[in-house]
Amino acid sequence: MKRHDVLILGGGLAGASAARVAHQAGADVAIVSKLSPLRSHTVAAAGGINAALAAGDTWEGHAFDTIKGSDFLADQDSVEILCREAPNLIVEMDHLGTPFSRDESGTLFNRPFGGMRQARAFFAGDRTGLALMQTAWEQLVKAGVTLYEEWAATSLIVENGRFSGLIAYRIADGTLEEFQGKAVVVCTGPGGQMYLKSTNAVTCTGDGTALAFRAGCALKDMEFVQFHPTSLHGPNILITEAARGEGGILKNAKGERFMEKYSPKMVDLAPRDIVSRSIQTEANEGRAFPGGYVHLDLTHLGAARIKERLPEVYQFSTEFAGVDPGKEPIPIEPAQHYIMGGIATNNAGATNVPGIFAAGECACVSLHGANRLGGNALLECIAFGKHAGAAAAAFAKKTAQIAGGEQILQQEDRRVDWLLKTEGGERVEALRLELKQVMWDNVGVFRNEQDMAAALAAVRALRKRYPSIRVGAPGKQFNYALIEAMELRNLLDLSEVIVMPNRDDPNWLKHTLAWWRGDRIELTYEPVRITQWQPQERTY
Ligand code: FUM
Repeated sequence: MKRHDVLILGGGLAGASAARVAHQAGADVAIVSKLSPLRSHTVAAAGGINAALAAGDTWEGHAFDTIKGSDFLADQDSVEILCREAPNLIVEMDHLGTPFSRDESGTLFNRPFGGMRQARAFFAGDRTGLALMQTAWEQLVKAGVTLYEEWAATSLIVENGRFSGLIAYRIADGTLEEFQGKAVVVCTGPGGQMYLKSTNAVTCTGDGTALAFRAGCALKDMEFVQFHPTSLHGPNILITEAARGEGGILKNAKGERFMEKYSPKMVDLAPRDIVSRSIQTEANEGRAFPGGYVHLDLTHLGAARIKERLPEVYQFSTEFAGVDPGKEPIPIEPAQHYIMGGIATNNAGATNVPGIFAAGECACVSLHGANRLGGNALLECIAFGKHAGAAAAAFAKKTAQIAGGEQILQQEDRRVDWLLKTEGGERVEALRLELKQVMWDNVGVFRNEQDMAAALAAVRALRKRYPSIRVGAPGKQFNYALIEAMELRNLLDLSEVIVMPNRDDPNWLKHTLAWWRGDRIELTYEPVRITQWQPQERTY
């Protein structure tokens, strides 16, 4: 058994930010992470981080763009915090050593991003997430924060209605252990692997979200899933929105700049939901290339500029599509990218279960409503990671440790044992692929009642088949087949929450809350918080 004041579950940018602040507040902090932090999905975030830092920009402008982008379903007091704090956070990360791109005078460059009326995405080439993560990681090493890496959490322990610890599985050797803590900050990032086409890494299986859900935390607005318009056709690797920020143009198979039709003002830099729907419409109406892709044309920028500002775009296009973007357009298609919903928290990162906090993509504060603007995710990780870390440390300071998750440890031990031995007929990878196909076909870029009902029935049927799975590998050392079986359970539970909510036009401007009731999932609703921006028609 291991014991720390504050456990941080997940080692990406939100986790690292939470850990740094909790450590500074004097707590004994440990990060428990399925991955090494420098392999977290933060490092895939490419194009930028937003702040109203340029001359003439205001935090209110940033906030309004974010709220309009969310279709007025974000909580406005939370967005205000994000946008007010953003400039200082960029400066702080710069001073800590993030290698932001700058001009010859040393001023930080910024570029336009989708749905923003002003260029306010600051960047480090197109490796902004990696650069920020390395900075955050260095701070953790400097501070000596304890790290348990390649430990996959299997459950959060809640006793007498309060968090008391978690159980985690050490991937290297199959050790299952209890980690006691007075508070946990869940920062496990994305969970988009239930979709066939996704920019999320294969490790993004919503583990922390599912664990918190089963431990009694409400999940908020899980039906809002974002599709990034420009993933590389085929492997669905992210081709950053920064490519359009730098001047990239979308063209259909007839060579038409089709976004002029859908977004006369913002054209290629309309928000992601609009660009994704536009591409899908072009495909549905027969104006895409065979296989459903369109072109992202950067040729007018020239190879030198692409290599300087968008090195990853250059590399991914040449290596994974055989296309030199300086000479030919890049084949792109929409793919799942982000889940706006997550573990419901207040502005301090606290959930409805005392001692459980959450931050980053797995959380829903809520900042993004029905659609997140690019460049706000990295910002959220730092801003609300820090709030959650501070609140968790304060909670731990005034709280005594509750002893003993021995029973849960035994229960998890029996479950792992069962997974290793079970000889059911359902192969884990086949079930995961079926789930991905169901979600992509029925609850993708466009949704309708009939397909959503079909998805719900199919996901429920897949969940019923889960007890008949077969891992097919009995060993305990680096048994990734076992990890995938655990991940599949998380993906299945979250998929049901994504497909459950019904459209209810008379009662709009509401958040959906999903509650785990063991044998079923229950939905409740709460109003969206509005401070100063009344909902209006969302045109671009
Ligand atoms: O396109 C991108 O660079 C993605 C950024 C984001 O999701 O914030």
